[in-house]
This record gives sequence, structure tokens and C-alpha cells, in this order.
Amino acid sequence: MEKQTQLYEGKAKKVFATDDPRRVIVSYKDDATAFNGEKKGTIAGKGAINNVMSNHLFRLLEQQGVRTHFIEQLSDRETVVEKVAIVPLEVIVRNVAAGSFAKRYGVEEGTAFAAPTIEFSYKNDALGDPLINTYHALALGLATQAELETIKRTAFRVNEVLCAYFDTLNVRLVDFKLEFGRTADGTIVLADEISPDTCRLWDKTTGEKLDKDRFRRNMGGVEQAYQEILSRVMGQ
Ligand code: TMP
Ligand code: ASP
Repeated sequence: MEKQTQLYEGKAKKVFATDDPRRVIVSYKDDATAFNGEKKGTIAGKGAINNVMSNHLFRLLEQQGVRTHFIEQLSDRETVVEKVAIVPLEVIVRNVAAGSFAKRYGVEEGTAFAAPTIEFSYKNDALGDPLINTYHALALGLATQAELETIKRTAFRVNEVLCAYFDTLNVRLVDFKLEFGRTADGTIVLADEISPDTCRLWDKTTGEKLDKDRFRRNMGGVEQAYQEILSRVMGQ
């Protein structure tokens, strides 16, 4: 697989063309941002950790029948994935109140829900990724009704698989963000990444945060938290 010109650079990853028009290479960076890019920094080793961890979780999800963009890991930071058109929605599944949910609705962080909940943001940096509902997504032409149904069903299925998996690592999956893409033939597949950048992961015994909130909230111990979650995932 030959790496060709850079197609795109995002906040945490770069995407390169390959000699196969159906495949691209993603390259994970150590750059970290929060609050729509207002806070910037680096987390040493993050790119490699997120790449390896995300690929591990995508393989697990594939085994459980969830279609993802994952094809092959090339190196500690680089992975070949199926080229998709990203649906411009951030799909957020929550099991426990935290972050923007806790703040918006005045719920104490750590309050568990009786059943998981889901919300969508319109992926648009200029607008600050505003919350939207599925009717807005339809009105804006971001996805079809059938695609939204697939996305919702898949997101809750991903939650079931990942909650059970993280439980075996003594980790509570508080919430996470997913992105979906359309393949060349229009199939909706899970894309982007699943990592400590995109999940809230709390140690089940101590409640310790093992995710990007340590960076967002200036808590310190950021690199150690990423290392800890990686070693739990890979230690299996
Ligand atoms: P929130 O509570 O700030 O809305 O975040 C919910 C989850 O989504 C949390 O696990 C972090 C993740 N997330 C991202 O991956 N990217 C983002 O831009 C934001 C705002 C949250
Ligand atoms: N997406 C946020 C940013 O734009 C990062 C985050 O809070 O996860 O910087």
C-alpha cells in the first residue's frame, strides 16, 4: 500500500491517499485540542495509543457484527481504512451523566441513567458543533431517515459491546462519541476512532478518570492515564 498525497489534516489525525482509490491511510497525531480548538496542547504518545486502541476496539466490534472502516494497521501511528464520506454528525451515547449533559441539564456528574441515551451534534467547527435532533439532520440533508435509523441502532449496539468489554477491564464506559461514514456503495459503516480522546472511561473501583478529561480539565497525569488504559486494553 503506497502512501500518497495528504488529503486532509484534522485536529488529531491526517489522512493520506493511497494507490487504491477505495482506501486511505490515517496517521494519528499527539496534538490535543478541546473546546472547539480553543485549548491546544500535546499528549506525548497519544497518537500511537489512540491508533492501537481504536484498532483493537474496531476488530472487537467487527467480530460482534458491527461494520467499521478498519482494514489494517501499518505501524504504531498509521492505519489503512476504507475511504468513506463522513456523515457530518457526532453521535454521542451516554450511560452516566457527565460533561456537557451534566452541565446543560443540571445533573450531578456520575449519575447513572436507567437506560443509555443518545444525542447528535452537527459536525461543523464554524458553528461549534451545535446539538441537533434527527429532524434537523433530515431537514439539513445530512442523512436519510434510513441512515439515521442504522446509525442509532449501531450506536446502541456499539455501546452494549463496549460496556461489556470495558467492564472486564474494571473500567466504566461513561459516554463516547462515534462518527459514521458512507462507503462507495452507500453502506453506513463506523468510522473515525474510539479512544480516550472520544470516550469517558472511569476506573470502576476508584472512579479515576482515564481519558481526555484530564487534559480538558487540567487535572495532570494525562500521559499516565492514556498509558494505563492502553495497558489494560492490550494486557488482555
Ligand atoms: P460532552 O459531554 O462534552 O458532550 O462529551 C461527550 C463525549 O463525547 C465524551 O466522551 C467526549 C466526546 N467528545 C468528542 O469525542 N469530541 C468532541 O468534540 C466532544 C465535545 C466530545
Ligand atoms: N472536539 C474538541 C475540540 O475541538 C475536542 C474535545 O473536547 O474532545 O477541540
